[in-house]
Amino acid sequence: MAAVDYLRSGGVVGVPTETVYGLAASAFNVEAVSEIYRLKGRPANNPLILHIHHQDQIEQIASTIPSCLPRIVEAFWPGPLTVVLKSKTSVPEIVRAGGDTVAIRLPSHPVFQQLLATINEPLAAPSANRSNHISPTTASHVEDDFPKEPFPILDAGPTATGLESTVLSLVGVPTVLRLGATSVESLKQILPELTIKIPSHQTDSPGTSKRHYAPRTPFHIWSNQNLTTEDGVLLFGTPVPEGADHVWDLSDDPVQAGKRLYAALREMDQSHLRNLYVVLPHQDHPNQTDWLAITDRLRRATQSG
Ligand code: TXA
Ligand code: MG
Repeated sequence: MAAVDYLRSGGVVGVPTETVYGLAASAFNVEAVSEIYRLKGRPANNPLILHIHHQDQIEQIASTIPSCLPRIVEAFWPGPLTVVLKSKTSVPEIVRAGGDTVAIRLPSHPVFQQLLATINEPLAAPSANRSNHISPTTASHVEDDFPKEPFPILDAGPTATGLESTVLSLVGVPTVLRLGATSVESLKQILPELTIKIPSHQTDSPGTSKRHYAPRTPFHIWSNQNLTTEDGVLLFGTPVPEGADHVWDLSDDPVQAGKRLYAALREMDQSHLRNLYVVLPHQDHPNQTDWLAITDRLRRATQSG
């Protein structure tokens, strides 16, 4: 695999995962990891996820193994769940953004798994978008975000879930730090004591904009504003607001909607419209818990500033 040689020599590669495309580098190569930060324009205080292909690799990375970890691994790996554990000091500080914890994920995508197994070392990989922009669910989304940076991309078609992994801290009380493709309900079945503590939009990692996952066209939550032919509207199976001309309906099925969300936001952004609006999914929807991650992304994407 050419990508393996490239990564071993300190290069950065675009990789498919079941959630979104990632920008991968050898986790123990500080220069390669700093290239990820440079390419993304990512603040140095935002740590990266380490991706592994076998659970035995956890011991290389984490200093403490919580007693609940085997149950979590059994239930959710491989898959879209990232766990945060106390880190070994051998994990480069740049990966941990100077903290004493490390995020680990064992992805299910066969192409990425094969790459990880062949290289047989953890790969650091954030989503392969410019910092604060929309995460990529196809290889061409990655190319669009880095038009002048010719790193190789392993193109394996559109990603399966379309939303990033759920981030679960197992340092202290089990706590969800980022809503994502593994539902809170399914985690609670294994961890009844689970809490949710999403860093608030305002106090998101210092140095980052509160606006995240955001299109470049002004994007607002629709609350009965008048619409013109220059506006685009995103909705989830609810009636089309009066006057809406350009409509993206992602359906009332949260799994389908999650899969299509980021591609739809990119498409809306490229449609030369003046304003974009979203009609948020119903709060009293029977599947409300499944809508949590989608609603979280939409709230961040419509934040100003
Ligand atoms: O689905 C995913 O998780 C994708 C694919 C490529 O694996 N990756 C991804 O990475 O979304 P990124 O860097 O875009 O988002 C990782 C999130 C960030 O919110 C980061 O702050 C958090 O995980 N994170 C990473 N390390 C952490 C740590 N040690 N403690 C707390 N949060 C951490
Ligand atoms: Mg990201």
